[in-house]
Amino acid sequence: MNQPSAIVLGTGASLPEKILTNHDLARMVETSDEWITTRTGIKERRVAREGETMSQFAVQAGSRALEMAGIAPAEIDLVICATVTPDMPIPSTACLIQHRLGASRAAAFDLSAGCSGFIYALSVAHQFIRTRMYRNVLVIGAELLTKYLDWSDRTTCILFADGAGAVVLSADEREGHGILTTALHSDGALADYITLPGGGTLHPPTEESVRQGLHFIKMKGNETFKLAVRSIEDVCREVLATSGVRPGEVDLFVPHQANARIIDAVGSRLGVAKEKVYLNIERTGNTSSASIPIALDEANRKGLVHRGDRILFAAFGAGLTWGAALLRW
Ligand SMILES: CC(C)(COP(=O)(O)OP(=O)(O)OC[C@H]1O[C@@H](n2cnc3c(N)ncnc32)[C@H](O)[C@@H]1OP(=O)(O)O)[C@@H](O)C(=O)NCCC(=O)NCCS
Repeated sequence: MNQPSAIVLGTGASLPEKILTNHDLARMVETSDEWITTRTGIKERRVAREGETMSQFAVQAGSRALEMAGIAPAEIDLVICATVTPDMPIPSTACLIQHRLGASRAAAFDLSAGCSGFIYALSVAHQFIRTRMYRNVLVIGAELLTKYLDWSDRTTCILFADGAGAVVLSADEREGHGILTTALHSDGALADYITLPGGGTLHPPTEESVRQGLHFIKMKGNETFKLAVRSIEDVCREVLATSGVRPGEVDLFVPHQANARIIDAVGSRLGVAKEKVYLNIERTGNTSSASIPIALDEANRKGLVHRGDRILFAAFGAGLTWGAALLRW
């Protein structure tokens, strides 16, 4: 029996209302709109208010994706939530989402792969569908990174932001549609490039861990930048070669939105035309696992995605992890 394809039936996103501009940040730390814009491409980002939770945005993104898909919550077999900022360590946020959506039949779990979380989750969902274990999988990428920012550290607080995006992946018997290939990689030898050291069993939360700033995100930005460009290019070439697709045949490239300069560099090294690269970092900042599904939902609702289009996704993040996916819409 043939393996079914995993097609995207619906997309959804949800962002906090509150906007923090570069000018706002320039009043908080020694930085400027000019520096942030030229080094990162970010002009403003969304920030959750006190009391707002990651699951709130994830549920809204998920229900928008279900609505577009025309699928009832009870038809969902599995909920995967890619995140590094769950509501709490126990239970998984995916279980909270499953309950609030009314996805009563669904299994649910969180997946942690840094900024590559959505690509990892997409790949896992793909395997469940190919093996016919599940028909409908809700894949969510959701983060409230600003809860872990040191607002006095100008090297990180200007980058990260909040939001959620989701896709409904469904089994489809037509061949050559949906996810064509995924590739996942990791290198734990470089784990110290991007960390949030406190809050786990190594540094459980204590007054001392708070005093030492262990509950803040830390990043070796420059080293990460160089590696990200090379790794994203390589993994994109890998999925394109596996699927027999040339870079020039990509209709839309939806990369993780970490830095506009990384995206520009990857696009031009690959030879994907600028107008085929979807960029929204100017308005969203870096929302880690959420950035690709938010960008995809925006592109989809703007009518930029057409049946038969070849869409390339790629990401790089903490772990280190990186990955790519190629999809025929
Ligand atoms: C973080 C990042 C924007 C910094 O840009 P960069 O060009 O590498 O800048 P550097 O870290 O080399 O810093 C250059 C200078 O700007 C300064 N600087 C850093 N942040 C600043 C800010 N917000 N405002 C003004 N100056 C700043 C630094 O102190 C440094 O000053 P110095 O030359 O006097 O030492 C960039 O490295 C980046 O995007 N990295 C990758 C992020 C990523 O992909 N993460 C993985 C996925 S989450």
